[in-house]
Amino acid sequence: MEGASSSLLDAEAVADLVLLDPLTEESLVQTLQERFRRRDIYVGSGTRGFGGTTGTAGTYIGNVVISVNPYQSLPIYTPEKVEEYRNCSFFAVKPHIYAIADDAYRSLRDRDRDQCILITGESGAGKTEASKLVMSYVAAVSSKGEEVNKVKEQLLQSNPVLEAFGNAKTVRNDNSSRFGKYMDIEFDFKGEPLGGVISNYLLEKSRIVRHMKGERNFHIFYQLLAGASPQLLQQLKLRQDCGHYGYLNREGSNLPGMDDAANFHAMQDAMRVIGFSPAEVTELLQVTAVVLKLGNVQLSSSFQASGMEACSIAEPRELREICELIGLEPGTLERALCSRTVKARDEMVLTTLTVPQGYYGRDALAKNIYSRLFNWLVNRINASIQVKSDKQRKVMGVLDIYGFEIFQDNSFEQFIINYCNEKLQQIFILMTLKEEQEEYVREGIQWTPVEFFDNSIICNLIENSTTGILAMLDEECLRPGVVNEDTFLTKLNQLLATHKHYESKETQNARRVTDTSLPPRCFRIHHYAGKVTYNVTGFIEKNNDLLFRDLSQAMWAAQHALLRSLFPEGDPQKVSLKLPPTAGSQFKSSVAMLMKNLYSKNPNYIRCIKPNDTKSAMVFTPELVLAQIRYLGLMENVRVRRAGYAFRQLYGPFLQRYKMLNPRTWPRWDGGDRQGAEVLLAGLAFPTEELAFGHTKIFIRSPHTLFDLERRRQERVAQLATLIQKTFRGWRCRTQYQLMRKSQILISAWFRGHRQKNRYKQMKRSALILQAYARGWKARKTYRKYFRSNASTCVANFIYRRLVQRYLLGLAKNLPPLSVTDRTWPPAPYRFLDDANQELKNIFYHWKCKKYRDQLPASHRAQLQARLCASELFKDKKTLYTKSLQQPFRGEYLGLKQNPKYQKLHAVAKDKLVMADTVRKVNRANGKTVPRLLLLTTEHLVLADPKAAQPKTVLSLSDIRGVSVTRFSDGFLALHLKEVSTVGAKGDFLLVSDHLIELVTRLHQTFKATMGQALPLHITDRFSTRFPKGDVSITVVESPKAGTNGPVCKKKGSNKMEVLVH
Ligand SMILES: Nc1ncnc2c1ncn2[C@@H]1O[C@H](COP(=O)(O)OP(=O)(O)OP(=O)(O)O)[C@@H](O)[C@H]1O
Ligand SMILES: [Mg+2]
Repeated sequence: MEGASSSLLDAEAVADLVLLDPLTEESLVQTLQERFRRRDIYVGSGTRGFGGTTGTAGTYIGNVVISVNPYQSLPIYTPEKVEEYRNCSFFAVKPHIYAIADDAYRSLRDRDRDQCILITGESGAGKTEASKLVMSYVAAVSSKGEEVNKVKEQLLQSNPVLEAFGNAKTVRNDNSSRFGKYMDIEFDFKGEPLGGVISNYLLEKSRIVRHMKGERNFHIFYQLLAGASPQLLQQLKLRQDCGHYGYLNREGSNLPGMDDAANFHAMQDAMRVIGFSPAEVTELLQVTAVVLKLGNVQLSSSFQASGMEACSIAEPRELREICELIGLEPGTLERALCSRTVKARDEMVLTTLTVPQGYYGRDALAKNIYSRLFNWLVNRINASIQVKSDKQRKVMGVLDIYGFEIFQDNSFEQFIINYCNEKLQQIFILMTLKEEQEEYVREGIQWTPVEFFDNSIICNLIENSTTGILAMLDEECLRPGVVNEDTFLTKLNQLLATHKHYESKETQNARRVTDTSLPPRCFRIHHYAGKVTYNVTGFIEKNNDLLFRDLSQAMWAAQHALLRSLFPEGDPQKVSLKLPPTAGSQFKSSVAMLMKNLYSKNPNYIRCIKPNDTKSAMVFTPELVLAQIRYLGLMENVRVRRAGYAFRQLYGPFLQRYKMLNPRTWPRWDGGDRQGAEVLLAGLAFPTEELAFGHTKIFIRSPHTLFDLERRRQERVAQLATLIQKTFRGWRCRTQYQLMRKSQILISAWFRGHRQKNRYKQMKRSALILQAYARGWKARKTYRKYFRSNASTCVANFIYRRLVQRYLLGLAKNLPPLSVTDRTWPPAPYRFLDDANQELKNIFYHWKCKKYRDQLPASHRAQLQARLCASELFKDKKTLYTKSLQQPFRGEYLGLKQNPKYQKLHAVAKDKLVMADTVRKVNRANGKTVPRLLLLTTEHLVLADPKAAQPKTVLSLSDIRGVSVTRFSDGFLALHLKEVSTVGAKGDFLLVSDHLIELVTRLHQTFKATMGQALPLHITDRFSTRFPKGDVSITVVESPKAGTNGPVCKKKGSNKMEVLVH
């Protein structure tokens, strides 16, 4: 911003030409040159601060930005720059295309004014680049969203497609637009792009068949050949070699800095984005290929039978391929190219063509196909980008149209192009110069008129519907009889002989002027931008733009849908005798429509200047620039700006907009608008020369004042907005508070009510309970005497008894069997009987057992008692016990009674015998065993020698101190004797018995019965025993060596013995 304001005051290179002092053509050129040197390629022209922020109604003078082509890329189009210019104050920033675009966009969005941006300048001055910058800026600053982005992308992507088909390299510009383009971008009320419409003007189709040396045909041909895949080329029946095609320049088809292949792919991508289907793209490229291939269709002459020369196809291959591409019978196309149907009286006659005529027809066909294809392309893009909804729209038009052209040899095209530029200049003059000055006069403002050239006389010379050059050309074209350019020129000379801006050899001769620069068959027009000499050759033909009907019919006959649709007039059903409108009149009416369109919008100008002819960066040719400054009318423009007022507005809207700046006019002014404006401005104390009061409008001289006004307004509006906000917030809070308070009261009322109700309900419930109890108590008291007390206990007891009775009776019937091994018992029918049932079960079982025992014989009972005793003594203590269970206790193993040998022993035992068995006695000296007979009587224990059957040792039971046995399954036993006894003096006995359990059990029983006390029994692994020679400690060892015959005793030293058992 600082840079901007300082450059405003930079005398050498002012950013705004209004500040130029002195204002001369030289100083203007110098300023541009100085700024160009500093790479400031944009300059404003006194219009800064106009536009968007100001004008609402009435006269409006557009912004002007002058752009000098830098021919190098400058870092001034970055996203940061976009941000810098976004919502900028036009006055405060450096001149830039972005500034003008921003101003136009905001004026469109915020002020609801349709805008147009007119970009003019010579070929190569940078118009197309400027238009793209405008579009990309608008795309960048408008809002984002999926739908909006798609629209933006489609709009932006229309450029590469149109450039491929409509641009070409010329000597002036490597990417010269060979058509005029006007694009309406449409927005909704929020400023979001909705879509657009593109109009195209006059494609330079002659380039298809011919171009100057050093130039190229349209880019698409080179792009297609360089970028298409081999398959695509094959499909299109093309060769990659440019030199093969007659319509392309044979040398230098490659352009430095331009990658045709990459551009081809970019163009294909762009088509996809716009919405072309793959089939449409293929069709488009097929038609393009057909145009290219038509240039290679060679004709040769042959003589007919009549002797007339006739043309024929020299080499049928190319023709055949074309026909294959478009689905046409080759004969049809050959006929259409080599002959022509002529109507002679009422008959149609086929006449052959000469070779030049044939080539003429071929070229005309190629040009027609291409230009119609281009129109189709524009329409197709429009179909994609056009706005579908019928929402209210605002429009921003961008006009990028060919600039004024003066060549060595100027033809019909230049005439048309220059006419268009003349019309644009007219708009510029009308809107900026003439109208402004006329307004000052109308409004009664003191004003010294500024001279300027009004070009309506030239426009009239060309477009007047009766005497204009275009009208006369049309007349010539339609006139029957001999028609050629000479008759047309003669007619012009007659009619325009005295016209100030028309010259030709004849008029010069009439005025006796000698001018060698004007050749015959030419006329010269003094355009606003300079004199241009037009050669009339080709005027009639180009204006007629006729295609032999045979050719259009042949095209219509093709099966190729796209190509066919380009030639609707070829339909034989629709043959019309009316001639189509001429090229000139078509162009005239489209220009008239364009002008109408532009007039209805708020104009913004980008005046492009080309600094040199060599496309080089940093070269500034002052003469060249001066010429452009002249024909762009910049001097006049600046002059009017300087003398005039920057801003004007009707009193009404002005007062409406600024009335808040004065307490006398705010909020309402009851007087007239003008008085209101005067009062308002009087309060603001601006210098008097800054303001002028017209009849209906207020005029403000400098943008500074206007911006001051605008700034104050903004501040005041902010204050007012705050006031409104404040009041509104206060009101909102108050109402909200009151509402809350009311609600709070209501809620507490309801709550209290609810609480009281609950409390009351609770009290009522309690009272009822109390009442019920009291009543119950009273009733019980009253009625007690009517009932027997304890009745319930009686009843209960009765029931219990009854149940018990039933249980017992049931049990009696259901008793389990009396077998002692059966332990079953019926379950208790009621839980309260569980204990009794268990008890009865036990009693029953005991009783059953007793009964069983009672009926046993005495011997059996004694046996059982012995068994019981054995179990008590040995169960779980000695392993042998379990084995012994199988052996019955027989007691008598020797057969004392039966065996007479034992008679003596039998006598000893008499009736007191308890047990008789054979045992082995361990020799205390060496551990060896000797068999002995053992008799246990109720009083004695007798050991006897088996052979002699004589008692050897007789022990009284009272001599026995105790018995020791091992834990294992052996029959070893130590019989400890009391020392005091006589036998005992000999020491303890160590015995081994095969019926140890029985022996010890019986000894135990007998001992108890006799002695009245239990026999001490030790079941142990280590014990001490008394031998005659002292005590010996005996250790029992479990060992396999023990053998099956019983334990093995080993004497170990004098007082140790080991008993091996198993
Ligand atoms: N702002 C710029 N910055 C850098 N280079 C530019 C700029 N403007 C134009 N150029 C260069 O100048 C060349 C010509 O510009 P452009 O095609 O816009 O001219 P034009 O006025 O549209 O010409 P024509 O009337 O032939 O279409 C561009 O290809 C580009 O190289
Ligand atoms: Mg261009």
